[in-house]
This record gives sequence, C-alpha cells and structure tokens, in this order.
Amino acid sequence: MLDRPTPNDLRAFWMPFTANRQFKSAPRMLVAAEGMHYTTSDGRQILDGTAGLWCCNAGHARPLITEAIQKQATELDYAPAFQMGHPKAFELANRLVDLAPDGIDHAFFTNSGSESVETALKIAIAYHRARGDSSRTRLIGRERGYHGVNFGGISVGGIVNNRRHFGTMLAGVDHLPHTHLPENQWSRGMPEHGAHLADDLERIVALHGADTIAAVIVEPVAGSTGVLIPPKGYLQRLREITRKHGILLIFDEVITGFGRLGSAFAAQHFDVTPDMITCAKGLTNGVIPMGAVLTSADIHDAFMHGPENLIELFHGYTYSGNPIASAAGLATLETYKQDDLFARADAIAPYWEEAVHSLKGHRHVIDTRNLGLIGAVELEPIAGAPTKRAFNAFLKAYDKGILIRTTGDIIAMSPPLIIEKSHIDQLIGTLAEVLETLE
Ligand SMILES: Cc1ncc(COP(=O)(O)O)c(C=O)c1O
Repeated sequence: MLDRPTPNDLRAFWMPFTANRQFKSAPRMLVAAEGMHYTTSDGRQILDGTAGLWCCNAGHARPLITEAIQKQATELDYAPAFQMGHPKAFELANRLVDLAPDGIDHAFFTNSGSESVETALKIAIAYHRARGDSSRTRLIGRERGYHGVNFGGISVGGIVNNRRHFGTMLAGVDHLPHTHLPENQWSRGMPEHGAHLADDLERIVALHGADTIAAVIVEPVAGSTGVLIPPKGYLQRLREITRKHGILLIFDEVITGFGRLGSAFAAQHFDVTPDMITCAKGLTNGVIPMGAVLTSADIHDAFMHGPENLIELFHGYTYSGNPIASAAGLATLETYKQDDLFARADAIAPYWEEAVHSLKGHRHVIDTRNLGLIGAVELEPIAGAPTKRAFNAFLKAYDKGILIRTTGDIIAMSPPLIIEKSHIDQLIGTLAEVLETLE
C-alpha cells in the first residue's frame, strides 16, 4: 500500500503505454493547450507534431467545441443510451453518414477506437448469422496492424508486444502479410510495389474456405506500427477479393478519419468503399471520448427483422452517443466544415511531403515516407538496443519544444490540420537538429 499520497505524488497513476519508471523520474507534464501548441508545467511552449495522439485534428481549444460541451453539460448531462434517445446523437449520426462514402448509411456509437473495433467485429459475425450464414465466424487481420487493445482488436492486430503477454486471445483468426516492402524505401505518397500482397487473401480463403470467413479488417494506412502506406492498387484488390467471396471489408479509420488524408475518410481518398468504417479520435477532436462504427444499409437492415418489440443487436455501451460527446462531435464536424480543414490538409500536403523527405541524408535516417498529413522517419536501430535511438529522439525533441511520437525506431508525425508552413519548418528543422545530436 502507498503511504498517504500527496496531490503531486506520481506513484498511484499506472500510466498507459508508458515507460512508467522513466516518466516518473523526469515527468513531462502538459498543463494547457491552444491552437498548435501545448504549454508545459515549466511554462514552455511545445509545438504539437502529433495532434495529441492523432486526434486533435482541428488544433486545441477550439471555441465551438468548448462552448458546445459547456452548454450541453448544463442542458442535458446524460440520457440513458438503451431504449431512450436524445436529439444530438441522431443529428450526429446523420452528419457522420453524410460525410462517409456513398453506401455507408448508419452509425453505431462507442467510446473509443478499441470499442469501435470490437463492435465492428461483433457486427460482422452477427450479420452473417442474421442472414443464416452462421458458419462465417473467422476474422482476418494483418501483420503489423493495430486495432486497439481489447481482445478482438489484439487478436486481429499484428503487434507482437500487444499480443504475447495476454494469452490465447480469440480463436479463428488469421493474418494477411503486412505491406511494408524494402523496395518502397523513400516513397513519396503511395508506394509502387506490393498490390499483389492482397492476393494472400486468396490463400487464406483456400485454406479455410470462404464460407468460414466473416470479415477482413485493415487500417487503410497503418499508423501505430510506424506509418505503413498501402501500395498502389492494394486496397482495390482487397476490395475485389472480399466482394468476390462474400467477406465483409472493415476499414479501421481511427487515425485516418476526419481529414488526415485530405478527405473525410481514407475510403474516399483511395476510392475504395468498405462495408464498415471504424472511427474515433478526430470525431470529437479528441476532446471527449467517442467512437463510431459506420455501416452499409445492407448490414444494418439484415438485423431489422422479427418482432418489433425485440432488441435487434445485443450490444451497446452506457455511454454510446453520450449527450456531451455528441455535442462535442457536432461542434467538431462544424469546425472542420467552417474552416474547410480537410481541403486545407490536402493543400498543405505537398509542402509537408517536401519537408519530411528533406530529412533523407540526416544521421541514422534509413527511410522517410508520407501521405496526406502523415509523415514517418525511420532510424537505424542501435545494435542490441532497439527503440532506444528513437525514444532518445523523442526526449530531445520535447526538450527542444516539439512533440513527436515514436514506435520502434520510427518517428511518426501527424500534426493538426491547421498547421502552417512556418510550423512545418520549425517541426522538421528541430527534428533535423535532434537527429544530428543522437548517438
Ligand atoms: C487504427 C487504430 N485502431 C484503433 C485504435 C484504438 O483507439 P483507442 O485508443 O481510442 O481505443 C487506434 C489508436 O491509436 C488506432 O490507431
């Protein structure tokens, strides 16, 4: 037991995905945020190169969003999510399907990306069952995929450290190969090589039988394993093969949703419409936890049978469509629209691309890649100490006033869509200096 913790005692909080002991020996505390910047507890300004955790797409402290939250908290703080409704959840669902690609017509609310993934996987299996196809239970993910941290998500995910500590996970899961090929080094935008990797789904179909497979889930751009951009033609091919075999295709758009690639969803950017889209993060600008699963009418309608007084889908969360989250979501979508932020991201992406690739030739850099407002810089690992070099870069960058993110020895950047050219210069210029000082 802890002896009486004082208010600034750091011991009680077990921090998520954090080197707890390192952090607590030299804490990095953020106390305020506005626009493109965080303020630290020691009064420094930190340029946000990651939109928080890929979520504050409109930048920080946006007035429409903060006002909407305040107003909603006084007007209707909570309404039961089951068998009851409130207007803003319906309005937000309508606004979301308006933004989504044609053919996506319904929204189911969750509280996070992980919950969106679990929800989509469950809907996929239940959909086939609702149509009398109950042998379709198998789920296909991809190596190096990240789909959150719940059991379904880590089962279809392909990050070894997120899986190996947690037992046997879901049965009946298989994985496609990842799409990160060495011949695509220094790619600008979508890489040339690797569309054929989608054909591996045919191998999996031949192995298990299409009539056992419910869904394939992939991130259109994999973020958490270091920005893996789909090769040209790959997603189209995956769509064709899934359609041919009656397998649902789920795009996990938790990081690519809401303007990251210059369109509302990556599905529109790549011109590939999946059967379901999972989203979260940018849905509320990261301000209030909220996620959603967007589905086709075909999927939704498959459940709308039987006596009308019976629940059609035995799934949901106490906070599904929470009033304050819904208000935040509506104000966020309005902010994106008023500031035309998706188009803005698209317009500044070429400048971003040049800046990211200007790091080629700097010490330790073995690859740079980009798409939309996403950039990655891969470093040569220190022999025998993987991740250490990139983590040191993160610490030094923070000392020099920029927030970047690292995964393995890859630095990933995903700034708010309000970023100006001068911010890009500062972010990449500072990172260049940091790289030169790394051992
Ligand atoms: C593609 C993807 N799916 C799911 C998640 C999980 O989201 P959350 O942390 O909100 O549960 C993330 C988080 O980064 C993600 O990148």
